[in-house]
Amino acid sequence: MNTIGDYLKSGSIDIALLLSLTLKQSNTQLYTQSNYRLSTRETDRLTKLTQQREQGIPFAYLSGEKGFYHLNFKVTSDTLIPRPETELLIDIVLELFDQKYPYKILDMGTGSGIIAITLADINPRWKVSATDFSQAALDVAKTNTTAQVSFFQGNWFEAINDQTFDLIVSNPPYIKENDSYLDGLIHEPQTALVSGEDGLNDIRVIIDNTPEYLNKGGYLLLEHGFDQQAKIVNLLNKKFHNIKTFKDYNGNDRAVLAQIK
Ligand SMILES: C[S@@+](CC[C@H](N)C(=O)[O-])C[C@H]1O[C@@H](n2cnc3c(N)ncnc32)[C@H](O)[C@@H]1O
Repeated sequence: MNTIGDYLKSGSIDIALLLSLTLKQSNTQLYTQSNYRLSTRETDRLTKLTQQREQGIPFAYLSGEKGFYHLNFKVTSDTLIPRPETELLIDIVLELFDQKYPYKILDMGTGSGIIAITLADINPRWKVSATDFSQAALDVAKTNTTAQVSFFQGNWFEAINDQTFDLIVSNPPYIKENDSYLDGLIHEPQTALVSGEDGLNDIRVIIDNTPEYLNKGGYLLLEHGFDQQAKIVNLLNKKFHNIKTFKDYNGNDRAVLAQIK
């Protein structure tokens, strides 16, 4: 049987993370106990995890969790793995929306629940709802809830009947259907990622329908692909004004906020 140190030197993908997961030890513990020899059971578990990781299964699906903002979220193959870029949406809401006012906020396509739950957790005054058409994703989101969030299942606005909101926020699917970028994302639900030929099918549905579901002076906040901002601003121009555009922390165009006219 090999020691922790032997494995750490192996150069195998994410080996330190996989050792931590197998042995339930922190990174620091691994390095301070590098002479520890793994048992047969531990070796079997590590071998299985290493094989899965080498087949391309993302680490978050092996550990079953992913950090987002200040919380840890359970993720499964039914949910997209939270991306750091999406934290931008939280920063925008926290910076531009009054924390004292009991805004009604809707997160559409909530997946593991990251946007809705993070906002509700930070500000219990906000009345937060979340939708997804995947019941399996909603089941995961419900287990992640740390604060009051109302969940609704359905195809975009069909989920919410005639409710109206002060802010609708969404990180919808926005990748073009033939984009080679998808080759590296085969383990994540394609319905969470792909949106027609130009990646804008779902964004068009959301922009077209949002006005009906916003309160007077309400806002729509969307995450989008790095090359889609101009087209989205164009789609918004008809019924929205006060349009603000945002870049993510890598300097890529990533989000748009717009107020109903
Ligand atoms: C890009 S993922 C975002 C998930 C999560 N909000 C996040 O940021 O990690 C898009 C989500 O939209 C959901 N979705 C896709 N099509 C939908 C539709 N027609 N109606 C409602 N939700 C949909 C997917 O199931 C998925 O959870």
